[in-house]
Amino acid sequence: PRRILSGIQASGALHLGNYLGALKRFTALQDSGAPCFLFVADMHAITVWQEPEKLAAQTREIAAAYLASGLDPAKSVIFPQSAVRAHAELAWIFNCVARLGWLDRMTQFKEKSGKHKERASVGLYTYPVLQAADILLYKATEVPVGEDQKQHLELTRDIAAKFNNDFGVPGFFPLPDPLIQGPATRVMSLRDGQAKMSKSDPSDMSRINLTDDADAIAGKIRKSKTDMGVMPAPDEALDDRPEVKNLIAIYAALSDQSREQVTAEFAGQGFGAFKPKLAELAVSSLAPVTAEMRRLMNDPAEIDRVLKSGAERAAEIADPVVDEVKRIVGFWRA
Ligand code: TYM
Repeated sequence: PRRILSGIQASGALHLGNYLGALKRFTALQDSGAPCFLFVADMHAITVWQEPEKLAAQTREIAAAYLASGLDPAKSVIFPQSAVRAHAELAWIFNCVARLGWLDRMTQFKEKSGKHKERASVGLYTYPVLQAADILLYKATEVPVGEDQKQHLELTRDIAAKFNNDFGVPGFFPLPDPLIQGPATRVMSLRDGQAKMSKSDPSDMSRINLTDDADAIAGKIRKSKTDMGVMPAPDEALDDRPEVKNLIAIYAALSDQSREQVTAEFAGQGFGAFKPKLAELAVSSLAPVTAEMRRLMNDPAEIDRVLKSGAERAAEIADPVVDEVKRIVGFWRA
């Protein structure tokens, strides 16, 4: 059976990349007929320091973003990762399945640990193993994510295949497919078309935050980097115009069009004409989402009800799977 699963870290500050690459895609998949599991990755968040007095609020904020983007808790299971113990249990077993050589190849660890690898937490290193546990615990078949998660999904498939093979249980874990779809699977910085839009970019002008108001959004788009040219013709290759390519991708994703449709509409126009249209579109698409997030954040009781019932429903699926894994591994039981 099909099962869709994805997660977002509880590290605060959601941006347009998270919205277009993940949240908006989840909402599109909710009615595809397969059950959806969406969680707040608070255990992943603490691989780098998080203020304990802020972490629960950050978790609620991601839950609010799920709900505000259109996910319906009656259809989708929305829960905090740490509230389902089986994630940690399966992650340990997978730590003993995954090989050091596999983790050594993970580019996200190299980026996030920076120059001083010896000072990174051990959790940051084994982060993708926990991610594999998140996915396989629910025997998920489809995992909608942005482009940056592709390597982690490949690792997840490797862990599933090795577990099935080592323990002689062919097909026990399905090999999940990454769903990296739509025109905005890798939203780039508004200041640099070579850098990914990210919450760790020191320049706030590089990203549109889901907490920005209409003026901030319009200002960031007006000041976004472009080049000396005009809007491209539909057949123009954009490899040497990454900033322009990015703005077109954002417009396409926000308006549910293809990049081709957007280029056809604006070909030959100046950025002075295109940018205000993009700003208007961004404001009108994001304003309802941010307003609903704000409303929900003012009523934590509603969010907490969703997270609590989500955690119970998630555990009903996850607990029997981890029990079966413990039996397969050969752990003692009475
Ligand atoms: P996180 O919290 O960094 O990002 C959440 C989602 O947003 C996508 N994303 C982007 N998409 C397009 N353009 C961008 N600039 C951009 N930046 C971020 C990410 O690809 C992701 O889909 N490891 C995951 C969280 C996670 C997870 C999982 C995901 C933990 N366990 C299991 C799927 C399944 C992460 O760091 O996401």
